[in-house]
This record gives sequence, structure tokens and C-alpha cells, in this order.
Amino acid sequence: MSQAATTTTPPAAPGTTVVRADNLRQVYTIKKGMLRKPDQLQAVSGVSFSVQAGKTLAIVGESGCGKSTLARMVALIESPSAGSLQLSGIDVMNASAQDKRALRQKVQLVFQNPYGSLNPRKRIGQILEAPLEINTDLNANQRAEKARSMLALVGLRPEHYDRYPHMFSGGQRQRIAIARALMLNPALVVADEPVSALDVSIQAQVLNLLADLQRGLGLAYLFISHDLGVVRHIAHDVLVMYLGHTVEHGEKNVIFTRPLHPYTQALLGSTPGLAGSGPGRQRTVLKGELPSPLNPPVGCVFSTRCPYATDQCRRERPQLEELHGRKVACFEAERLSAPSTKGQ
Ligand SMILES: Nc1ncnc2c1ncn2[C@@H]1O[C@H](COP(=O)(O)OP(=O)(O)O)[C@@H](O)[C@H]1O
Ligand SMILES: [Mg+2]
Repeated sequence: MSQAATTTTPPAAPGTTVVRADNLRQVYTIKKGMLRKPDQLQAVSGVSFSVQAGKTLAIVGESGCGKSTLARMVALIESPSAGSLQLSGIDVMNASAQDKRALRQKVQLVFQNPYGSLNPRKRIGQILEAPLEINTDLNANQRAEKARSMLALVGLRPEHYDRYPHMFSGGQRQRIAIARALMLNPALVVADEPVSALDVSIQAQVLNLLADLQRGLGLAYLFISHDLGVVRHIAHDVLVMYLGHTVEHGEKNVIFTRPLHPYTQALLGSTPGLAGSGPGRQRTVLKGELPSPLNPPVGCVFSTRCPYATDQCRRERPQLEELHGRKVACFEAERLSAPSTKGQ
């Protein structure tokens, strides 16, 4: 999109690391009444990644695996219980109040349900200008100008400026939410299931918009989805989560063409249009329920549902290790990926 390229200077030079997370954890304490010991729920158990300007890291996994918790930590809505987070090279946990304020503008969140986050009593123009009123010295004319050019950038029309959220379709509302997220020129957009509530045809339009905006503005995306079909079009890298843990992490093409973790294989195998019969595409069918994060399996978190689980898997927790060009946490991955067992 040429408009995007000329309207704003890139928030970060291509190749710069915009976000870096090291061993991020989130533990929630769940109270159970006065007399009983509270439970500790590990929603995210030590997740690490980085995202460069102009790139998209997709976080995938079933509902309840900790994706939104991770999103809230990266978007500075929640502080992690442990681990470290750097945004644009600044250590968030040890940043000054002034730096934190500046960092809050650098990362913006887009939610699944834009209607819930758009004030129904405000016109679109006001909604877009609110972040500018709070965080910038721009005057009313400058704010309106910026809002109007942002409307054009996300594919909406000038007359939409005076309309209310209920007058828009789901796809248009998501465009408005994206426009609002971009008003302060963030370097990173955390999008939590941004197209999951939309019809498939509309999903493609919003994904194309996100891709155009990324190219034009050099944005980094943390793109969260339970749907690998969606991720396939937008991700550069993929991180697969299961019960708060990273089970596989690497370049999208590497993971999609040869998934090594049985959980990744199961996710790909159950995604229409992605199930195949190549190496690593043996059909792993997910059996059983996701265990409760209040009572996770002792060994590998996936061992209770994994068709290849051994005694070691049920006893010990595998670490993420480099194997065939990506990181994977599975004792059996090497054996299962060996040529002699291919396609078994
Ligand atoms: N504020 C909270 N307090 C307690 N438990 C929570 C809270 N937020 C999320 N959880 C729990 O943490 C786990 C991960 O949730 P979430 O991050 O929403 O997963 P996802 O987005 O992948 O569906 C779930 O078991 C959920 O019930
Ligand atoms: Mg979620």
C-alpha cells in the first residue's frame, strides 16, 4: 500500500528487534475461601521469543493454553510474575515511569471483538482521536487530520468519521480498531484472535490489510490465533503453545512443512487444507481433554494426550532444543523424525 509508505515514517528500522521476551511467566493465585490454601495457576510457564520490525510471530494453541495471558503481558496490561521483557531495547520491568509511559504507546493491542472495545456512544472520529488527546500535543485540527488519514489507510471512507460503531459491519469495526491501535505510531501490534469472530471471506480482507500495513509501516506483529489456517497467511515465525509451555518454535515454512512436535502435527492435521501426508504429517489425532493448568502432568505437558509418550515423557519435562532448524520440546522428536520412521 503506497499510502502507508508515505504517511508515516517507519517506527523501527527493518531488522531491529522490537520485542524480546525471556522466560516470561504468569502465575495466578486463585482464592478458594478463607480457610483453604489458594491455588496457583501457571498460565504461562517460561516463554521466550523475539520479533523484528516488519515481521509477524504467530502464537498458536488451543483455547486455555495461555495465549491471551501472554498478549496482556507483552502489551503491558499485566506484569509477568517472572522473566524479562524488552520493548525497543528497553527493559520494561526496570524502566522509569517516563520510559514506561513512552513504551505503552509503542505497543498496542487489537482484540477479537472490536465492538466490545469501541464506545457505542462515540463517533469514529472521536474514538480515533482519543489516544491523541491523552498522549500528544496535537491540536483539534491536527488530530482530525490524522484520524481522517488513518481512516483512508485502513480502507474506510471520509464520511465514516462522523458515524457510530453500530453502523459498521464486523470487518469494518475491526478496521476501526486497527486504525485506533495505529494512531500513536506503535512499533508493535499485539493482535489477539483479531479475525476469529469474522466470516472467512472478511477474514482474508482484514489479514490483507494487516499485511499491507505491516509492509508500509514496518510494524512488528504478535499475532495470536487458535487457527493455523489463518496463521499460514500472515506469520513469518510460529510459536506453538500447550498448557502454558512452548512446544515448538521456528520459521513458519519449516514448521508447516515438517512439524516435529506431535502436538503441532495434530494441530496441522486437524486444520482443513493443511493436513498432508509428507514427512512429519503423520496424522496425530488429539485424544482426551486439555489437562487443567491447576494440575499439569508431571512430565511432558502433552504426555497425557500424546500417542508416542514413553515412561520418560511421563516422568521428565523435555526442554526446548534445536532440531532440524527449529526448537522443539519432545524426547521423541529426533526418533520420530528419523528417515526410518517417516510416515509411520
Ligand atoms: N485473570 C486470571 N485469573 C486466573 N486464571 C486466569 C486468568 N486469566 C487466565 N486464566 C487462566 O489461565 C489459563 C490461560 O488462559 P488464556 O491466557 O486466556 O488462554 P487462551 O487465550 O490461550 O485461551 C486458563 O486456564 C485460564 O483459565
Ligand atoms: Mg485467548
